[in-house]
Amino acid sequence: MKILTVVGARPQFIKAAVVSRELRKTHNEVLVHTGQHYDYNMSEVFFEELDIPKPDYNLGISGGTHGKMTGEMLIAIEEVLIKEKPDAVLIYGDTNSTMAGAIAAVKLHIPVVHVEAGNRLGTLNNPEEVNRIITDHVSTLRLCCTHSAMEFLKKENLSKNSFVVGDPMYDAFKYYSLKVKDDMPEELIGLDGEKIDMPTEFYYMTCHREENAGSDKPLREILKAADSLDAPCIYPVHPRNKVKVKCITEEENYKNLIICQPVGYLMSVYLVNHSKKIITDSGGLQREAFFGGKQCVTIFDYVVWPETMVGNRNQLSKPDAKEIIEKLNCKQIITDDNPFGDGKSAVKILDCINKYV
Ligand code: UD1
Ligand code: UDP
Repeated sequence: MKILTVVGARPQFIKAAVVSRELRKTHNEVLVHTGQHYDYNMSEVFFEELDIPKPDYNLGISGGTHGKMTGEMLIAIEEVLIKEKPDAVLIYGDTNSTMAGAIAAVKLHIPVVHVEAGNRLGTLNNPEEVNRIITDHVSTLRLCCTHSAMEFLKKENLSKNSFVVGDPMYDAFKYYSLKVKDDMPEELIGLDGEKIDMPTEFYYMTCHREENAGSDKPLREILKAADSLDAPCIYPVHPRNKVKVKCITEEENYKNLIICQPVGYLMSVYLVNHSKKIITDSGGLQREAFFGGKQCVTIFDYVVWPETMVGNRNQLSKPDAKEIIEKLNCKQIITDDNPFGDGKSAVKILDCINKYV
């Protein structure tokens, strides 16, 4: 079977790394990178570190409004699909690249396989929610990470050809945690390219959502919380909010905040496994905190991964310094069960493709 995979953003490279490795054992894969993420440390580093094959196509589409970006991707993906004539299109998650891949394929009557199907917030004010709903409704096969995602699909009458396979982010985290081990990386790279020594004890923070990092007030509150912890807080900054973060830090003179460029996946896995606790607004990082047994505060209004919220392991917070610190100081209770599967979701994804496409 010829499968055409569409990726474009950082979290999709990680998922594709584990699934493509399995897929290429028995199928022919054509890999399309939309270009949505394009800086070395947002894209190429993942291909290098995770041994992802070089994309067959890089469409070079990024930035602009959601409509413009998605529209340009739709046009370019359609051209590739007409040329390659794949038996199915494989897409991940909820980015603009995901939705563009789904729409381009369904219009050409090519089966769409959506990995990470079914998650819902319950609001159309979030761009990823729009992408999720549209993608799920045009997909031929919907593969969920968790049972709660499957329940949402049932409510939308989408249970046919929908299955729980586990989370490829867990496959990746398990596999690469063994590779990374405990060897401490020597340094981080600052926003101006300067080298920063790694502290031995630290918190790990990522924050890139428009709601938190797009304007001054929430971002200042989040940075204030990160600066007032009992150990340094490492914050690799997504390029979308680099300018704003630099501006604020120049004014505020933080003492305990380590601001750096985005790190590669292996470093990120190290930071999760060796941090005291985690602050984030990332869908991926809040699950990785759970996988690594690290307590997490998610700065967001909606629960995306309800399974992570048990025993205070992950709590929502407003972008408010006092609330973030209060939530970080709650005691967490860890139980053994893992609702994200057994680390073999890639095999299950392949089984479903072989059976249902
Ligand atoms: C996108 C996804 C989001 C995901 C995130 C992962 C959508 C709607 N959102 O958000 O779900 O959590 O990726 O990180 O698809 N930029 C650079 N260099 C890069 C990448 C981006 O400078 O390598 C700039 C872009 O030019 C753009 C801004 O950052 O102006 C935002 O990038 P974009 O891909 O639109 O959205 P993300 O916030 O990354
Ligand atoms: N990540 C990384 N380097 C960083 C920040 C994040 O490798 O500097 C990894 C991390 O594993 C995270 C994943 O990228 O789970 C997804 O990234 P992001 O938070 O951008 O996307 P989301 O999961 O919110 O869609």
